Amino acid sequence: MNILLTGGAGYIGSHTAVELLKEGHSVTIIDNLSNSSFKVVERIEKLTNKRVSFYKEDLLYTTRLKDVLDEHKIEAVIHFAGLKAVGESVSEPLTYYKINILSTINLCESMIASGVRDLVFSSSATVYGEPIRMPIDEETPVIDATNPYAQSKAMIEKILQDLSTAQPEFNVALLRYFNPGGAHVSGDIGEDPTGIPNNLLPFISQVAVGMRDKLVVFGDDYPTPDGTCIRDYIHVVDLAKGHIAAIEKLKEKPGLVAYNLGTGTGSSVLDIIRAFESANSLTIPFVIGARRPGDIPVSYTNPALAKAELNWQTKKSIEDICRDAWNWQKRNPKGYSEP
Ligand code: NAD
Ligand code: UFG
Repeated sequence: MNILLTGGAGYIGSHTAVELLKEGHSVTIIDNLSNSSFKVVERIEKLTNKRVSFYKEDLLYTTRLKDVLDEHKIEAVIHFAGLKAVGESVSEPLTYYKINILSTINLCESMIASGVRDLVFSSSATVYGEPIRMPIDEETPVIDATNPYAQSKAMIEKILQDLSTAQPEFNVALLRYFNPGGAHVSGDIGEDPTGIPNNLLPFISQVAVGMRDKLVVFGDDYPTPDGTCIRDYIHVVDLAKGHIAAIEKLKEKPGLVAYNLGTGTGSSVLDIIRAFESANSLTIPFVIGARRPGDIPVSYTNPALAKAELNWQTKKSIEDICRDAWNWQKRNPKGYSEP
């Protein structure tokens, strides 16, 4: 299939590009490189020995979308592009709503104009807000999200639902990711956060490589067995494969459908520190700090729907995540900014 990846030079998009190319699909990427580098495209090509068609375009302003869809005879789009930093979204809500929502609308208009009907959207477990039950399944209500980033994802989901009602031939898979981590086993592509990482795994990797002194664990007084928050950490390569399964499913089961992509197992912050230490035979200095505002104590999925309908489930463990994250970090201590 000919597949367009918006934001395909980013962390999850680049791993998905590699898996798609390995499966024999053709990949076109549109990315404005606001949070990535052209080196990613070169590394995708090196890893797969395949060519990628790349367009440096901003989805918000580009007038070339329809031409790209037509020229490459695109059959499905995976829409990763967007802004994703929760804290930044609180201080810059208009930027988050504008970029995330308007670029999705621009993309959908061009898809309709070009007759492309299948869209996979990068949503997030954050749309469940403070979930009313655990594990989280797709029937769990999507309630008022707690920050503008999460709210932008929930709003886009609603827009796509309305679009699929109005135009039943427009098929959408909403993929609600849990906590992605790790990197391609080669260590050639991985997560390269700008500035101080917000997320746990890149922060631990930067402590391990000596860029940061220590990890601050945000609270150990939560109602969990060891007092630290529990999340469902999913290897980015497992997550990438979930996108391929979703694209295939849209061909068989049209309409709009939401899938949670996670492992179904929760790990605490201390579990992750221990897994990182034992997988890589090193020590991660940490201190216990205050709770981070907005964190929920526990979040993990019931992965049954994705297993039943997509015939997809995760294969990799938190040790694999920690080993591959560290392999990427030590081979690329400054991410993509050095050769
Ligand atoms: P990322 O920042 O690495 O990738 C996003 C890519 O989109 C970047 O390459 C960036 O340059 C590009 N981009 C941003 N705005 C653009 C625009 N206006 N036009 C063109 N390109 C643009 O992020 P990621 O971690 O790969 O996440 C991909 C998607 O998954 C995002 O939508 C994110 O919200 C969602 N998601 C991520 C996580 C996570 O923890 N990483 C969790 C849940 C959901
Ligand atoms: N944590 C620390 N110290 C740190 C960073 C994180 O203790 O320096 C803790 C957090 O308090 C939390 C856990 O590690 O308990 C995981 O935190 P992350 O920031 O890595 O992940 P979140 O679950 O808070 O959020 C992530 C993404 C969101 C996404 C959500 C669900 O940042 O964008 O997963 O997919 F919506």
